[in-house]
Amino acid sequence: MNGFFIVLSVLVVVVLAAVALAGAIRRRDVDSAVGSLARETRQRDKSARKAEMSAVVDAPATGAEVERSAALARVGGDVAVIDEPSPPAVFVPPDPETYGVTRRQFLNRGVFALFGLGLTVFGVAIVGFLWPSSSGGFGSKIKVGSVSDLKSEIERSGGFLYKPEGRMWLTNYPSSALAKAEQVYSPAVLNSLKAGIAVLYQKCPHLGCRVPDCKSSQWFECPCHGSQYNQAGEKKGGPAPRGMDNFATEVNGGVLTVNTGQVIQGPPIGTNTTGQEAEGPNCIGAASGGHSG
Ligand code: FES
Repeated sequence: MNGFFIVLSVLVVVVLAAVALAGAIRRRDVDSAVGSLARETRQRDKSARKAEMSAVVDAPATGAEVERSAALARVGGDVAVIDEPSPPAVFVPPDPETYGVTRRQFLNRGVFALFGLGLTVFGVAIVGFLWPSSSGGFGSKIKVGSVSDLKSEIERSGGFLYKPEGRMWLTNYPSSALAKAEQVYSPAVLNSLKAGIAVLYQKCPHLGCRVPDCKSSQWFECPCHGSQYNQAGEKKGGPAPRGMDNFATEVNGGVLTVNTGQVIQGPPIGTNTTGQEAEGPNCIGAASGGHSG
């Protein structure tokens, strides 16, 4: 029995010691986490507070307070009551709605505004670039000039007149070929052919190179892959899938107008309304089935 009590006592002592140790460790953890003041510091703070209180109590009355007491005594009033100092006002954070946007909001809105502005300008530029021009440039109707003047210019230019504003070539078209042309070309192309002028888009129907004239052969000959076309733009050789494309045309009062916004696909391979063969050496290789000398 005695042994049992001894063991029980030892157990109680051990448990108490463990609890005390755990409490000490926890206090030290808390102190290290939140920080605690040393005892001397706490005592210094306490004495400083005491000194402050006694200073407040012993503080001499201000001149205003003395004058007020004297005035009250003169009129038979009671002892002047010194107003307690009002407590400091509680800080109330300002309402964002009241003082406007914060710096972060301002920056965010500025970035979004600039981004939106940039997108708008880019969109307007793209639309402006793609929109057919109405000021007489490529993509619009261009009044090229009087038919008779143009024919003379073509002659003076050696058979090929280039109009850069319309990216087009003008060549003379023989009236003797009109009967065949009516079987092949659309009315919008025939308008200028009947007036004696072929209007051709400079872009090669093969892969889009600009097709130059060849003065020696009196054909168009593409330097990119060697496609060749006669003066009417009908294919004579090379890899192009058809003849040169045309534009829609009008002739009113002897004046030729070309709608460069309306490209009309060139005639199919084998079309040869004018029967024009190469009139001299080719500039690009040899035409398949055409004159190469
Ligand atoms: S682009 Fe003209 S022949 Fe290929």
